[in-house]
Amino acid sequence: MACMIIAGGQWGDEGKGKVVAYLALTDKPKIIARAGVGPNAGHTVYYGGKTFGLRQIPCGFVYEGARLLIGPGVLVNPEVIKKELELTGAGPRFGVDRKCTVIENSHIEQDKSSDFLKGKIGTTGTGCGPANAARINRTAKIAENAPELREFLADVPQEINQAIEDGEAVFVEGSQGFGLSLFHGTYPYVTSKDTSASTLAADVGVGPTKVDDVMLIFKAYTSRVGLGPFPTEVSQEKAEELGIVEYGTVTGRRRRIGTFDFDLAKRSVMINSATQLAITNIDRMFKEAAKARRWDQLSKDAQDYVASIEAELGVPVTIVSTGSGTEDIIDMRSEKM
Ligand code: IMP
Ligand code: MG
Repeated sequence: MACMIIAGGQWGDEGKGKVVAYLALTDKPKIIARAGVGPNAGHTVYYGGKTFGLRQIPCGFVYEGARLLIGPGVLVNPEVIKKELELTGAGPRFGVDRKCTVIENSHIEQDKSSDFLKGKIGTTGTGCGPANAARINRTAKIAENAPELREFLADVPQEINQAIEDGEAVFVEGSQGFGLSLFHGTYPYVTSKDTSASTLAADVGVGPTKVDDVMLIFKAYTSRVGLGPFPTEVSQEKAEELGIVEYGTVTGRRRRIGTFDFDLAKRSVMINSATQLAITNIDRMFKEAAKARRWDQLSKDAQDYVASIEAELGVPVTIVSTGSGTEDIIDMRSEKM
């Protein structure tokens, strides 16, 4: 049993929601703790014939044995949490750290009305940047002062470190992709915080020597919503030809599409010290791969493509995702390439 961080390797969540949901169901962690920025993230989980759009609750909620936590480094919007608890029914096993920064309406208004943030950077307008700024200025409200969150208040670092000490499995679920890191990404076209594994660990109060695994998630191609440099971008016409058209989960904006960016991926592997890779959306590039659950169901081209990513990045691919359903996964941990 171990502590594993699961993080996006490119500019978004790269289908992390479904990977986390799958891993939660197979690995049965004691705790799944959300790290990352806040409700600017949009994760989609398709499970049991239902679609769950999640911005705050960990995507691993589908495994009913897990305690679901949000670490102190993460911004929380009590209204979003309330809606997602109604959607998932996860209330009885849910906890928010007392020290989480609370996003207030004024932060959302500031984010949406700023020509710079909304206009130039193309933020999600969810108030995350202004709320993080307020925290740095020491003027932000924290969860222990938010009556709506009272029944869920928890000491997340304490719970996680205790679970690790007890030899239980713990997942730390990141948000945003590596390329959006405030420090390592394409500044100023980035989010309001570092998004690499070290910060994800700090977000939930786990020290570096307690982390056993870092899984980085990459789409088989690259996508980006919002402005900023994108070296491998292709035209919208080309993306349509390839059959790849995507919209952002939170903003509904059409995503920009590009080929796999090996330079970004290598840097992402280095700075996150990745130990495993998940490759998602392989079915968008190789249509016959849709819903495959075994390696031998992939075409030679698709197999070679995955193998080339593994060889170039020098990290084993342990998960290949072949569709939107939680079960559409080739689990390489029980397969041979
Ligand atoms: P903010 O995080 O809302 O301040 O937005 C800053 C930049 O990060 C914008 O380019 C957003 O489109 C991008 N961004 C933030 N969160 C996500 C996400 O979850 N997926 C994809 N892009 C995101
Ligand atoms: Mg997303």
